[in-house]
Amino acid sequence: MDALYREEILEHYKYPKNRGKIEKPDITSFDTNPLCGDECRIDLKIEGNRVKEIKFDAKGCAISQAATSMLTEMIEDKSLEEIKKIGKKELLEELGLELGPVRLKCALLCLKVLKSGVYGIKDWPT
Ligand code: FES
Repeated sequence: MDALYREEILEHYKYPKNRGKIEKPDITSFDTNPLCGDECRIDLKIEGNRVKEIKFDAKGCAISQAATSMLTEMIEDKSLEEIKKIGKKELLEELGLELGPVRLKCALLCLKVLKSGVYGIKDWPT
């Protein structure tokens, strides 16, 4: 693993961005990694169809925590349409790691949670 990336991942793991909970979120989504049972919840506050605030709470390994923290930074102030376009490739590029199938599940859990929240929204906020 490249030392620079390793350092960035450890930084996000130790000092995660946007960790917490939003009272009365417009979107909230939760899921677990089926391989290990670790959990991830993402809350979003939406204003004018854009992310006004994002918080996550997750229990898991360094890769999953760092990926979730990075993902929350990636979507700050993004529109819901822009979020729908974020794919595995973008998140994995941000992580900067080559991951095997098990670690891939760790890294992508947050994206699955985010997407299911964004796509699952019933009343589109205005
Ligand atoms: Fe559980 Fe990575 S080992 S999320």
